[in-house]
Amino acid sequence: MKQKQLDDTHNRNINYLRVSITDRCNLKCIYCTPDGDIPKLDHGDILRYEEIHRIIRIAAELGVSKIRVTGGEPLVRKGVIGFIHSIKTLSKIKEVSLTTNGIFLSEHLESLQDASVRRLNISLDSLKPDRFRKITGFDGFDRVWSAIEQALALHFSPIKINVVALRGINDDELADFARLTLEYPFHIRFIEHMPIGNSSLIWNHPMLTPEIKDRIASTGNLVPIPTSPLDGPAQRFRIEGAPGEIGFISPLSNHFCNTCNRLRLTASGSLKPCLLSNFSEDLKTPLRSGGTDEALAEIILRAVAGKPSGHSLSRGGGAPMNMQMSSIGG
Ligand code: 5AD
Repeated sequence: MKQKQLDDTHNRNINYLRVSITDRCNLKCIYCTPDGDIPKLDHGDILRYEEIHRIIRIAAELGVSKIRVTGGEPLVRKGVIGFIHSIKTLSKIKEVSLTTNGIFLSEHLESLQDASVRRLNISLDSLKPDRFRKITGFDGFDRVWSAIEQALALHFSPIKINVVALRGINDDELADFARLTLEYPFHIRFIEHMPIGNSSLIWNHPMLTPEIKDRIASTGNLVPIPTSPLDGPAQRFRIEGAPGEIGFISPLSNHFCNTCNRLRLTASGSLKPCLLSNFSEDLKTPLRSGGTDEALAEIILRAVAGKPSGHSLSRGGGAPMNMQMSSIGG
């Protein structure tokens, strides 16, 4: 197969695949998990690691070079480290990173290091243990913070901390998060809350990046860090002299669809070219009914060809979505 086939119809080169290995999560964050019971996929409906590996191998032949392992919470699935090792053996995969809520991170750090994972994204929306429990439903702040400190000691880099800005919930802590970058080399990433799925947190005048910037203005002068479109969607800054960085991810106020370079594979084997669209291509059926590598590659190419030019999620409107963030991994 030729390289660079994954150019979509809007001049975007798709080189990044986010892989959700499970729809399960051990936390129930108010902005991510729906109200009430969430129907869980049956084990048989979740792709086996060999199946995911095969899709990644074929996608890599088509030009994907970056993989992010997500969930649910990826560290709740047994065998995740062996799986990561197996993706690392694919020569065309240059980078594998992990997004986690950090609860089970500390016991996996050394094996992640052995698997040459360097980049971590950890979701953390409060620095106050009590509030952490209210947001996530679990009294786990100390575990997450201790895992972050251990990751630092083991020289994981970058350690990105994802903070969803939630009005009336953690908006009084945004400056504290920004101040962490004065002391630690963390990349704090403030994310606008996207009102999608059936979350228990209803659309509630979301905080947009300009307001988030105002809230942290007291921490110091934000100096822009030059970025390239391949860097990902964050607008990056540094407080003068700080070892860490501050990034703003603005899916509502400044959406980054024109530079979107990603596809998402769900735990049940759908390939989604846009987080905020219901369009997807089924890979599980052909995987399980003898589909050839060529047939699977065709489906991946079709998903890319159907990648929408942009999403319509904007201030004041929800997304017509039947998915949940909790199962797609952001
Ligand atoms: N809006 C914005 N970010 C979200 N995340 C989960 N749900 C939402 C939402 N509705 C983020 C989490 C996590 C990442 C995987 O996705 O903070 O860090």
